[in-house]
Amino acid sequence: MQGIPSYLVNFDLSSLPREETDVLIVGSGIAGLFTALKVASRYRVVMITKDDPSQCSTELAQGGIAAAIDEEDSPALHARDTIRAGAGLNDPEAVRVLVTEGPRRVEELMEWGIPFDREGGGLHLGKEGAHSHRRVLHAGGDATGAVVWKGLAARAAAEKNIRLLPRTMALDLLADGRRCYGALVLDGEGRVKAILARATVLATGGAGRLYPITTNPPVATGDGVAMAFRAGAEVMDLEFYQFHPTVLAHPGAPGFLITEALRGEGAVLRNRHGERFMPRYHPLAELAPRDVVARAIMKEMDRTGTRCVFLDVTHLDTEMLEKRFPTVVSTCRRLGLDVCRDWIPVAPAAHYWIGGVRTDLYGRTNLEGLYACGEVACTGAHGANRLASNSLLEAVVFGGRIAADILQKEWRIINPPPLSCRLKEEAFSEEDKQKLIKRTMERWAGLVRNGPGLKEATARLEALWPLLKKEARTRREAELSNLLLLARLVVEAAAWRKESRGVHYRTDFPGVDPAYCRHLVLRKEELKVTPLEVWRTEGIS
Ligand code: SIN
Repeated sequence: MQGIPSYLVNFDLSSLPREETDVLIVGSGIAGLFTALKVASRYRVVMITKDDPSQCSTELAQGGIAAAIDEEDSPALHARDTIRAGAGLNDPEAVRVLVTEGPRRVEELMEWGIPFDREGGGLHLGKEGAHSHRRVLHAGGDATGAVVWKGLAARAAAEKNIRLLPRTMALDLLADGRRCYGALVLDGEGRVKAILARATVLATGGAGRLYPITTNPPVATGDGVAMAFRAGAEVMDLEFYQFHPTVLAHPGAPGFLITEALRGEGAVLRNRHGERFMPRYHPLAELAPRDVVARAIMKEMDRTGTRCVFLDVTHLDTEMLEKRFPTVVSTCRRLGLDVCRDWIPVAPAAHYWIGGVRTDLYGRTNLEGLYACGEVACTGAHGANRLASNSLLEAVVFGGRIAADILQKEWRIINPPPLSCRLKEEAFSEEDKQKLIKRTMERWAGLVRNGPGLKEATARLEALWPLLKKEARTRREAELSNLLLLARLVVEAAAWRKESRGVHYRTDFPGVDPAYCRHLVLRKEELKVTPLEVWRTEGIS
């Protein structure tokens, strides 16, 4: 994979309009907002987001935030569940940090006024797949992400040290292979400018738009991972793309999530013949880990020749459904489905990228001054399969740590070296090529993979490769370049991992191979394999 330019656009830093800030945050979801609010006590923050700020995966999150706060629960049990789901690839320290610091961060959200749902004087805790306890906090029933996002966004809007620039897309990091000095951005009027920063935090979310059907919003084109990779940052575990098992299969609401919390309350999955099939696949049935449920659904769809299966909630209490799941109930109703009477058609769809920019336990990347937080990052906490509702938790726990690291540093004056780039200025039509990438990924690098398929995917993506050498002059062109690069990286990583583990499933290597109990770390012009150290859960209390 040769010849990947470091930038998407032609520029010369010395002649670009520029502004300076202490901390630049790219992305406006929970990871970006939480980090911004914490560092704003001392530093000036510029937060950029390429669309309307509410366009983020956080806003769509239904399930909730997992945290061991119940008296009968403990961080050790939460760690055990996280590691069981992670199939041997979790970084034990990242898991320990996640589960032990999680309850305090959740308390902090409540102190900031986030109204988590309560019942009988205490917090109501939901249950989701592969959790051994009820530990999922939620808000507005199944509108957790929207409620949390609104609360944090209002707080950020009132904070004088935070300046939010909507419709401003980060194109690339300004970096010299050793340090990051901020980002090149494309503003709402199509002008390229530089935002120089002492510290830059990537909080750009995932890349669901690599696939035709996704629960992610349209902005999820993986920009953060792509620009970090171009700048020389290490990326890790890219082969692990989580598919959510139950996404509404209805043309009226493509990608609409049907939360796993419904299965936690007793919803069952049926095939077209009405048969409840999950007990045949796993002892935990509908509450098996997500990868198991998603593949079981695919098998049932293949076996019965349909494009969906059905989630049956008709036996559940109507009042409970209306109160706990208002978003699901009302969306289905709008489409003519009465969930109290009708089964909900569902199928797996791309949901969460476990891999991302490799970070340490303080969100630091291998480039000085560059941090990554939330879905864009790979802390190692999720291993090969993320436990449900651990992602909002990861964003606040590691966002808190990034802020702590930034706050305790005495940052030097920003002094970037001369940086510039010259690419071919040729028009490229992006619409059909995006479709091609998505189809390639769905067919050969989706929920089920194999060697010949991945080879075919490589060849198809290779044919588009010359695009990367051309200047991207619009947001859409930049997104296409990012998707193409990321598709190649996912395929490369999936081809390397000749085993099945967690969400990565290969029909030609269907078992776990201990030789692959390690992470694949990729860096531009270099492919590095880092063996995993032995992990333990003892000592977490
Ligand atoms: C869901 O509500 O099922 C999604 C939660 C998650 O992805 O963690």
